[in-house]
Amino acid sequence: MKNDVNRQFRLKTRPTGRIEKSNFDFVEESIPEPGPGEALVRVLYLSLDPTNRIRMSDMDQYMPPVGIGEVMRGGGVGIVVKSNSARYKEGDRVSGLTGWQDFCIADEGLRAMSVLPKDLPVELPVMLGACGMTGLTAYFGLLELGRPKAGETVVVSAAAGAVGSIVGQIAKIKGCRAVGIAGGPDKCRHIVEDLGFDAAVDYKRADWREQLAAATPDGIDVNFENVGGEIMEAVMARMNLFSRMPLCGMISGYNTGEPMRGDFSPILMRRIELRGFIVIDFMEKFAEGAMQLAQWVVEGKLKHRETIVDGLENAPVAVNKLFDGGNIGKLVVKL
Ligand SMILES: NC(=O)c1ccc[n+]([C@@H]2O[C@H](COP(=O)([O-])OP(=O)(O)OC[C@H]3O[C@@H](n4cnc5c(N)ncnc54)[C@H](OP(=O)(O)O)[C@@H]3O)[C@@H](O)[C@H]2O)c1
Repeated sequence: MKNDVNRQFRLKTRPTGRIEKSNFDFVEESIPEPGPGEALVRVLYLSLDPTNRIRMSDMDQYMPPVGIGEVMRGGGVGIVVKSNSARYKEGDRVSGLTGWQDFCIADEGLRAMSVLPKDLPVELPVMLGACGMTGLTAYFGLLELGRPKAGETVVVSAAAGAVGSIVGQIAKIKGCRAVGIAGGPDKCRHIVEDLGFDAAVDYKRADWREQLAAATPDGIDVNFENVGGEIMEAVMARMNLFSRMPLCGMISGYNTGEPMRGDFSPILMRRIELRGFIVIDFMEKFAEGAMQLAQWVVEGKLKHRETIVDGLENAPVAVNKLFDGGNIGKLVVKL
């Protein structure tokens, strides 16, 4: 990281397929001066998320897309280096929307950031993963919408990733059978041997449908959907009467821009309760969720892993790991 300038990725063009470096201008600005009620934050870790791809496009989405010429939107954690606000003190560690840049301004309004506890029981990147937004996504999506009961079968796709790895472990904490769908033998071994899932389905093998059937002999009560497409269709075909399906993401379609198609008849015939959600729907309960996640992490009940890439300059290439399966657990950039 440089100390005398603020390097920023500004969106130049919207991607038509994969995210390319050429979709951004990498510029150097002077470090901003915090005004009254503002603080200057040095970004330490940046969260890379599938939603970065959505924000770069002009598809239908839950927030306005990033405008051409604007700093790429993204979450991160940082440290307050200068403050004119009673809310932030120098040395405070904060999390929020930092953007893809070395420094950002936090204020007391729309650009407010959360001040992290001084005595954090976990390393900083975990605050972007298991104890941060992706952990909260897993927690609320599964518990509030999936409503798993002990003995039920919970299936999650992208199971070795940031959200999926936490979903399967919470399902185990709640006494369920946890089945994860992931790409390749290493990820499948990881979720069973390291994270305690009951079974893994390697969707990169030709027999993945048979694996799914063998792993879910009593059908599926909760499908935590992260991927969409063929995988979603195959899982839905095995869902039980009055089962639940929190629809968290459909990553298989983000780079194509094509509408997601599929056979939705099981929703009717099996009366599946399908509900799309965005983690911010549960904002009022974030503190409660974060506390529970942190407690499970400290107790060793919730394991986490991060894939850490060095250097802000590598963000536009590294973000494609999410689409190529190059990450295990939460993907972050260390600045
Ligand atoms: N609703 C919300 O508020 C919210 C919040 C956060 C995330 N999400 C969604 O949750 C999902 C997971 O996000 P994450 O941040 O935890 O990412 P992640 O799972 O850590 O990384 C994405 C993973 O998806 C898998 N994948 C990519 N393309 C695929 C394809 N075509 N078919 C099957 N698997 C594919 C890859 O694993 P493999 O190696 O196994 O293929 C990759 O590692 C995404 O759909 C994301 O949009 C939603």
